[in-house]
Amino acid sequence: MATKIDKNSAVGITNSTSESNAYKYLFSSGRIGNRKTSNRFVSQAMEGNDGGPGGSVSDRTLARYERLAEGRWGVVIVEALSVVEESVARPHGLILNRKNVDGYKRLVEAFKKRAPNSLLLFQLTHSGRHSGTFSRRVRLYPGGDAGEGAELLTTGEVERIRDRFVEAALLSEEAGADGIDFKLCHGYFGAEMLRPANVRDDRWGGSFENRTRFIREVMEAIRAGLRGGAAEFLLGSRLSFYEAIRGGCGTAGPDEIIEDLTEMLQVVSLLKELGMVYVNVSAGIPSLTAEITRPTQVSRLFAYHHFRYARLAKRQEPELAVIGSAYTSLGKAVLGWAEENLRKGYVDFIGFGRQSFADPLFPKKLQEGSTLVHWCTTCSGCSKLMAAGKNDGCVLYDPYYRDLFKELNAAGRKSNDGSHPNVSADVGKR
Ligand SMILES: Cc1cc2nc3c(=O)[nH]c(=O)nc-3n(C[C@H](O)[C@H](O)[C@H](O)COP(=O)(O)O)c2cc1C
Ligand code: SF4
Repeated sequence: MATKIDKNSAVGITNSTSESNAYKYLFSSGRIGNRKTSNRFVSQAMEGNDGGPGGSVSDRTLARYERLAEGRWGVVIVEALSVVEESVARPHGLILNRKNVDGYKRLVEAFKKRAPNSLLLFQLTHSGRHSGTFSRRVRLYPGGDAGEGAELLTTGEVERIRDRFVEAALLSEEAGADGIDFKLCHGYFGAEMLRPANVRDDRWGGSFENRTRFIREVMEAIRAGLRGGAAEFLLGSRLSFYEAIRGGCGTAGPDEIIEDLTEMLQVVSLLKELGMVYVNVSAGIPSLTAEITRPTQVSRLFAYHHFRYARLAKRQEPELAVIGSAYTSLGKAVLGWAEENLRKGYVDFIGFGRQSFADPLFPKKLQEGSTLVHWCTTCSGCSKLMAAGKNDGCVLYDPYYRDLFKELNAAGRKSNDGSHPNVSADVGKR
C-alpha cells in the first residue's frame, strides 16, 4: 500500500489510499454503555433549521437523516430538539413533544431501515437566554451573556422545564431512538444552570449542589420512567468544558474568567454516578466564543484544547465513553489526529460537526477508498444561513443551500447599510 505523509498532519499518519485499513482505530468497533458501535465516527448534532409547523419533522429533515444513514456513521446524534415550544433558538427549529412524536418515529424508522447498525441519539435542549428574539427569551440569573430582555425564570417555571426534559426523554424512547444527548453546553439553559455565575438564591442556583440539582432530578425521573430500562437506552450529555465568559462553565467562581476545570470534572463524575454512559465534550458558546466551539482556519489550533478536554474527561471517568469535538477545522489531517487520539486512549469517539454537513457520506467514502470526499473548508456559510433564520446546510457542496446563500448575500448587498437585516447582529451564531 502506498504510504504518504500528510503534510498537514504533525503525526504523519498515512493518508493516501483512504482504505479503511489505514484508519484502523476509526474503523474499529466501539462501545457505549452496553451497546456496540460499528466504528468510531460520530455525526455531531447539527441544526438544519428546517422543521415543519410546530417544530415537527419535515420532509427535508427526514431526507437529511436518511442521507446520514447512508454514510455508515457509528453514531448519529440528531440535532438539538427543544423540549418546549415557547423558548426556541431557531424559527424553524425542531421541537420534541407529544404532538410531534409520530414524525420522530418516522425519522427513526427511515434511518434504521438504511442503517440498522448505527446508533441514533436525540439531543434534547432548552434554549434559555439564547432563545431567538422572536420567542420567549428567559434566563436563570440576571446579567451575563446575551440575555438582554430575557425574563427571569421563576422556581416553578424551572420545575416545569425539568418535567419537559423528562417527558422529551421518554418520548425519545417511544420514538425508537437508542438514547439521548442531554444538552448542557454552548450557553443554552443546561449550561447556564451549571455555571458558577448562576447565583440564584432558590434551590436551582448558588452552591454546586443546587446548580446540579436539575440534572440529578431529571435523571432520576427519566430512569424511573424508561419502559425498556436504563440499561438499554443510552443516556449521555454534551458539556462545554470551558465557555470563556466570566463565571461560565470551566471557571472557579461567578467573577472568574480564567480556565479552571475542577467543577467540570466533578460534573463528569456526577454524570457517571447518575447513570450516564457517555460524555460528549465540547467548549465555548457559539454566539459569543464561536472560534472555540467551532474553530476555523484562523483558530484551528483550538482543536488541541478540545483534545485536552476530552482526555481529561477520559482520565476522570475511564468507564464513560468520551466523544471529542471540533475536529473539522483540522481538514484532511483530521484522520491522523483522530487515529492518534484513539490509539492513545485519549478519546473513544471522534465527533464531526461541519464535516458531516459537508459530506454526510464521509465514513462510507473513506471506507471504500473514494477520493471524492467533500472536505469542509470551515467557510462558515452554514452558520450564516442559520443565523439568518434560513434552512441551513453546506453552501459549498449542496446546490439547495448554495442558492439560499446567494439569495442571502444578494439581499445583504441591496440593503442600505450593506448588511442583511437578519444577519448583521447574529452572523456566526448557532
Ligand atoms: C450549522 C451548525 C449547527 C449546529 N447545531 C448544533 C446542535 O444542534 N447541537 C450542538 O450541540 N452543536 C451544534 N453545533 C456545533 C457542532 O455540533 C460542533 O460542535 C461544531 O461545529 C464543532 O465541530 P466541528 O469542528 O466538527 O464542526 C452546530 C454547528 C453548526 C456549524
Ligand atoms: S458551509 Fe462551509 S463551514 Fe459549513 S459545512 Fe460547508 S464548507 Fe463547512
